[in-house]
Parts: sequence; structure tokens; C-alpha cells
Amino acid sequence: MKSDDIQGWVNYKRTYKKYIQLYNNCTFLHAGCFKGKGVCYACENIEEQKKDIKVICVDSWADKDLRFKNTIKISDSYSTYGDYIFETFKRNTEQYAHFLTIMRDDILVASNKLNDNSIAFILLDCCYISQEHTESVLDILYKKLIKGGTLVIPKLQKRKFNVNSWSERMRVDAKFEHGPDVIWRFTK
Ligand SMILES: C[S@@+](CC[C@H](N)C(=O)[O-])C[C@H]1O[C@@H](n2cnc3c(N)ncnc32)[C@H](O)[C@@H]1O
Repeated sequence: MKSDDIQGWVNYKRTYKKYIQLYNNCTFLHAGCFKGKGVCYACENIEEQKKDIKVICVDSWADKDLRFKNTIKISDSYSTYGDYIFETFKRNTEQYAHFLTIMRDDILVASNKLNDNSIAFILLDCCYISQEHTESVLDILYKKLIKGGTLVIPKLQKRKFNVNSWSERMRVDAKFEHGPDVIWRFTK
């Protein structure tokens, strides 16, 4: 499925294009996948740029973490709305299955399963629980980045939780970028 045809919010086009140009022979992490719009865009770009980049896709696909669950009627073949979105994600991304690793977990649980110094680029689009949860996730994910790796957080999420103080604590280089995919960025 083409990323443009998948329901979602934004697909982080500028962001992915830029970081796929920058990195190669490495692993990316897309945290918060929903139906796969951003993941598909990343994959389309990896193929277009002929890069060897694997993508780890993390999402809980849990009813409690998903919005709009009351706005659609799901067929009886899915026991939960989360299952329906998860199956949709798998279908939408199936042509890229060879370079995807899918982890259906809370981001905090999934982060702890990753190796330190193993990820070149992280897009974090799934921390909405609390300041404490967000800080714990960021502290863990920062350790997972390779040296020179980049973690980006969409602006909405940054606004909801006080990511600034975390960045100051970690003494990382952070700056705003403007455009449709405005992000907060840390480079290790
Ligand atoms: C705004 S959507 C992400 C959109 C996605 N980046 C795209 O490309 O369309 C947020 C996603 O985060 C997931 N999510 C929310 N809280 C989570 C958590 N604590 N751990 C893992 N996933 C979570 C939801 O299931 C949902 O699919």
C-alpha cells in the first residue's frame, strides 16, 4: 500500500527523507505506527534511496492507547479495535515485511528489549500517558541510539509533556525545525 493512501495523521516525509539520506547499514525505530502511514513512507524512501536500513515498528495496538475507537464499526472477525488496527497495519506494510521487525508492546516494555547503541534513528510518536512515562521512555531510548544517532519527537507530543527539561538534563543538542513535520530533535 502507498503511504499516501493510508489513513493517518502525518507521514513525516521531510523527516524520513532527510535521515534516510544521512544513515545507511543501520536500524531505525518507528514508535507509534497506527495503520502504517509513516512506516510505509520510510520504507518507500529506503527503497528509493537504495539504502540498507531495517525498521523496528513498535505499537501497543491496544484499545486504551488508540483514538477514534468509537467512531467506526469493526467487523466481528476482530475481537478488539486494537486487533483490527494491527491487522490493517500488517496488511498495509506487507510488501516491506522483509525489512520490518514488528513489536506489539507498550513503548516502555519494547524499549527495554532493544540493545544499547543499536539504533540510528528513532521517531517517537506514541508517548501520551504521563510525564513520568515519557521521561522513562526517553531515558531508555537515548541509550539505544548509536553515537551520532537521532531521536525525533513530533511537536504535539513535545508540547504535551515537558521534553525541554529532559533535554537539558541529558545535555543533548536540540533545536526546532519548522514545516509540516515540526519536530524536536536530539542527536547523541
Ligand atoms: C498518532 S498514532 C501514530 C501515527 C503514526 N506515526 C503514523 O504514521 O500514522 C499513535 C499510536 O501510538 C500508539 N500508542 C499510544 N500509546 C502507546 C504506548 N504507550 N506504547 C506503544 N504504542 C502506543 C497507538 O496505538 C497509536 O497507534
